Amino acid sequence: MCGIVGFIGKNAVSNAMEKLRLLQYRGYDSVGVGFVEDGEIRIEKAVGKVDELSVKSESVRAVAHTRWATHGKVCTRNAHPHASGENWAIVHNGIIENYSELATGKTVSDTDSEVIAQLLEKYGNGLGSVIACAQKLEGAFAVLALEKSGKIYAIKQKSPLFVSEKNGEVVFASDPVCFCGFSDTYYSFCDKECAVADENGVEFYSFSGERIAKTPQTLAVEYRASEKGDFDTFMHKEIYDIPLAQSRIEQTYLPAFVSEVVSDIRHADEVWFIGCGTAYHACLFAVCVFEKAGVRCRAFIASEFRYSDVVPTKNTLCVFVSQSGETADTLGALEKVAGVCKTVALTNVGYSALASAVNVCLPTLAGEERAVASTKAYACQIFVFDILASVLNNAEPVMQKLDKNGLDYIFEEAKRVVKSFDKNELFVLGRKADYVTALECALKVKEVSYVNANAYPTGELKHGFIALIEEGTEVLIFATDPILYKKSLHGARECKSRGAKITVVTTEPEMFEGVGNVVKVSSYLCSVAFAFAFALECAKKRNFDPDMPRNLAKSVTVE
Ligand code: AGP
Repeated sequence: MCGIVGFIGKNAVSNAMEKLRLLQYRGYDSVGVGFVEDGEIRIEKAVGKVDELSVKSESVRAVAHTRWATHGKVCTRNAHPHASGENWAIVHNGIIENYSELATGKTVSDTDSEVIAQLLEKYGNGLGSVIACAQKLEGAFAVLALEKSGKIYAIKQKSPLFVSEKNGEVVFASDPVCFCGFSDTYYSFCDKECAVADENGVEFYSFSGERIAKTPQTLAVEYRASEKGDFDTFMHKEIYDIPLAQSRIEQTYLPAFVSEVVSDIRHADEVWFIGCGTAYHACLFAVCVFEKAGVRCRAFIASEFRYSDVVPTKNTLCVFVSQSGETADTLGALEKVAGVCKTVALTNVGYSALASAVNVCLPTLAGEERAVASTKAYACQIFVFDILASVLNNAEPVMQKLDKNGLDYIFEEAKRVVKSFDKNELFVLGRKADYVTALECALKVKEVSYVNANAYPTGELKHGFIALIEEGTEVLIFATDPILYKKSLHGARECKSRGAKITVVTTEPEMFEGVGNVVKVSSYLCSVAFAFAFALECAKKRNFDPDMPRNLAKSVTVE
């Protein structure tokens, strides 16, 4: 994870820091900047988010970093940039797997990254040293190396890196979102490529030193950096973005647009849906709706799948779900099946590694998602699956759209429920697709409010975890499936008889009268929105920042 920026041009330090702010979704436990001043490299670092560091400098060269710790605890010493002499300052995103073999002496930090600075000092100056260093490194790495001469060098292997140039200014970044307001075109680095930049522009080279000609790409409109607008957090704003995103999906996902994928699904022996975290929950939802449409399918957690013994046939269809399209485990799972069977991605980032590595890429169309907790991307993923299943069924999509009034009501209800919720533990129950919502709700609550929320299928109560239910235990039940209302009611009663405090989120409120708090929702998707709103209100009540929760990052680019 980690975000890296390099800037060549006027006010390089403040410009780099401003762009770094857009990359904080990649990690935000410490921050640092390296720049050249009076012919010397200067490095400033701080623990915390970008705003913790205030540096004034007229420098025209800077590299900056926002960290998500992998090696070494969160402290200024481990923050980037790292140096190992006077000639280089480096920022790194990724993991250097062979760092202990490469170390040329004692390191100051506990990081795997410092070894890059050591190697560069050892090899000397210029492109030759950078290439020699790149050839030694193993693992995943996007590196920016600031040389005392003022040149910035870049190295890329498996971690994302992009660059844009305009009128003598150059910007390197982990995400093209940093080019918004700078230029409409940029270059993507491929694996095993490096570059050198100064005020005359950028030159690209392979790891074996051959010059490479690259074609610029155009910055897509949906990747313009979004702002919070009238909302106090991105998570809140992004939940309210769902109705507009749904309209985009409806306009795009016409039968002709999905005909290839639908035909692939029809003709596959089995469809496997693969993802991590929230994206995995979307895979579970996909299984619910595709099984209904008569498709044989399975969902896999990508990190488990990649090391499992399951083997696809050439007629298996593998669908990878990922908001970022950068998740290392999902990419690892893709590597396992690439070339064996047809692969499809459902991703929100059209320029991502996942998007370019699959046979067919479907857009999630959620628009930029900044909050670490994924909300609108999940809503869009399940909306897309619902549309695909309806095309397979030759039926109308089942899922209803959200609207602003509906969301206002859901937030009022979430506030009401959260007002009396003050425990550090929560049981979240549901069956079939409602169990998927329970899983997603529990994950969101854990992520942003640090409450130990755990989801279970309601029917599993008496097979074990009912032992944990006692006087005052908080239980949240999702019940929107008419076939299972009665079964959910039994579960609610079983918990209530043991003193639990019940809240039921349901499309059939009358049935649950008397068991506890009842939240009436008008559709399945409203119950999903309630799950998001509930988590957000829990975070607010506890005074936590839901956009940047502790220990997390939005793009999990390490294994
Ligand atoms: C969601 O709220 C999480 N932050 C996390 O589970 C996320 O969904 C997961 O890391 C997968 O990310 P991806 O969709 O970008 O692959």
